Amino acid sequence: MTATEATLPANDPDLSGDNVAVAFEDGIAWVKLNRPEKRNAMSVSLAEDMNVVLDKLEIDDRCGVLVLTGEGSAFSAGMDLKDFFRATDGVSDVERMRAYRSTRAWQWRTLMHYSKPTIAMVNGWCFGGAFTPLICCDLAISSDDAVYGLSEINWGIIPGGVVSKAISTLMSDRQALYYVMTGEQFGGQEAVKLGLVNESVPADKLRERTVELCKVLLEKNPTTMRQARMAYKYIREMTWEESAEYLTAKGDQTVFVDKEKGREQGLKQFLDDKTYRPGLGAYKR
Ligand code: COA
Repeated sequence: MTATEATLPANDPDLSGDNVAVAFEDGIAWVKLNRPEKRNAMSVSLAEDMNVVLDKLEIDDRCGVLVLTGEGSAFSAGMDLKDFFRATDGVSDVERMRAYRSTRAWQWRTLMHYSKPTIAMVNGWCFGGAFTPLICCDLAISSDDAVYGLSEINWGIIPGGVVSKAISTLMSDRQALYYVMTGEQFGGQEAVKLGLVNESVPADKLRERTVELCKVLLEKNPTTMRQARMAYKYIREMTWEESAEYLTAKGDQTVFVDKEKGREQGLKQFLDDKTYRPGLGAYKR
């Protein structure tokens, strides 16, 4: 058992199953890909379980921040090669499309626009298809000894699913093509340089640093947090003119939907009460 595993809270029996384990701790939902004997390779049933878990956690007050990680030595060894290649070779197109649909749902459609902040905590092996959920989490912290690789070229396929698209959003063309073409492995510190993760820390500090970051996020107004994340993600594909209009409207909408009245609170505490400085931290909630 690693230091990380030893200190994680107990799994919630209602949300945990064969493929995914969920544990709650002070506003954090720890979501662990839970097929350690298969290095958390992402099977069809894991996708189905992840869809249920993400759906439930979105409306569960115990989840303020979602941390996605892996049980055992892997974050994830990528797509389950047996399930997604050999087993689908003989099945109907309809079954194949259903498997792809389940996977696309959790790995990027849901995660990318999830209502709660998400952090990928990369604890070990991270290959191929695993880059998609990693990149679709808002933030990522890696263990220095995690091993990453776009290994597809090593066994005769392309980085498919949506991996090539996902890496193109964070890595430069030179970097992405280098790893697509060589299949070379790299570690946590290199993942920082490539822009794939925010930071990389020694394995025994991984959980501690992740919790520290979660606490910072949990201090903030959750409505503003959601709106700010969404706004950023949507404007990436807009023009400057569209962005300006959209952000103005999104800002107005934020005031409208924020039950906590964060904007008023912030202005009052800074301008009238003089009890805090927005440049130095969150207003008192
Ligand atoms: N799909 C299906 N099964 C996988 C898998 C994958 N992506 N990755 C690992 N497994 C299975 C192995 O087949 C093995 O199963 P078995 O016990 O029934 O034989 C089990 O997980 C353990 O794997 P093993 O290779 O013995 O573990 P390891 O710790 O020595 O090596 C890896 C770990 C991740 C380096 C190695 O498993 C690997 O290269 N996996 C494939 C990674 C990859 O290319 N992924 C891209 C997919 S898009």
